[in-house]
Amino acid sequence: MTDRDAERPVRLPPAYRLVQLSAVDSTMDEARRLAEAGAEDGTLVWAEEQLKGRGRQGRDWNSPSGNLYLSLVLRPECEPSEAVQLGFVTALAIGDAIGAVSPPVNVTYKWPNDVLLNNGKVAGILLETRSRADGGIDHLILGCGINLASAPLDTPYRATCLHNEGAGQVDEIEMLEAFGRHMLTWTSRWLDNGFAAVRSRWLQHAERKGERIEVRLPSETLSGVFEDIDSNGYLLLMLDDGTRRRISSGDVFPAG
Ligand code: BTN
Repeated sequence: MTDRDAERPVRLPPAYRLVQLSAVDSTMDEARRLAEAGAEDGTLVWAEEQLKGRGRQGRDWNSPSGNLYLSLVLRPECEPSEAVQLGFVTALAIGDAIGAVSPPVNVTYKWPNDVLLNNGKVAGILLETRSRADGGIDHLILGCGINLASAPLDTPYRATCLHNEGAGQVDEIEMLEAFGRHMLTWTSRWLDNGFAAVRSRWLQHAERKGERIEVRLPSETLSGVFEDIDSNGYLLLMLDDGTRRRISSGDVFPAG
């Protein structure tokens, strides 16, 4: 890995300390190495390119230069069960950051943590947590991939990028700075007021809420109506037989 050549200084809120790289295996791995060596809360790893970018459920995250790849180390004083809420905090921060750098566009959120632009996936979030021996959180890493200039073609859902949706030519520094501002705002709201405001905003713009969906889990596929998310961010699915399932992770598709 090499240090990234400075283009112009990146302006981030003082809560964040930037580690800027031109190429890395994965910003998740670099953030984990730094966190294990004692990096502070707010350490933000940004790389121009990733050689082994990864997504949820062990999938690859194709990472050519031109898009934004970052991982943020946090050391929150919350219960491990509450940590998933930070995925929703991050999705809202990305949605607001997109709104700040582009002309008015249609941003929605797909459970659990995807950000969509005109119904195509424009950003994905990966949350990895390391616990302490006493069961508390040592650190968590929030990884964000935001498609600015290009999007993969070989996905099971429609993927897109800001450029393809008429949001203009947004460069990585502009998006990184907008992300930093909005992440601080949403994290502060979450710390001060809990999950309620985050949940409520997310639900206002949730994709397929109230509609029939298919949820693919590792061992089964469920069909039902997407009723709600609960106070921890779990998806509440009403099955056809009238029973409700509370789902912690899976992939959502329109009902077939
Ligand atoms: C998803 O599957 O939707 C989550 C994708 C997360 C991708 C980002 S890019 C920056 C960080 N580094 C990685 O290797 N993955 C995350």
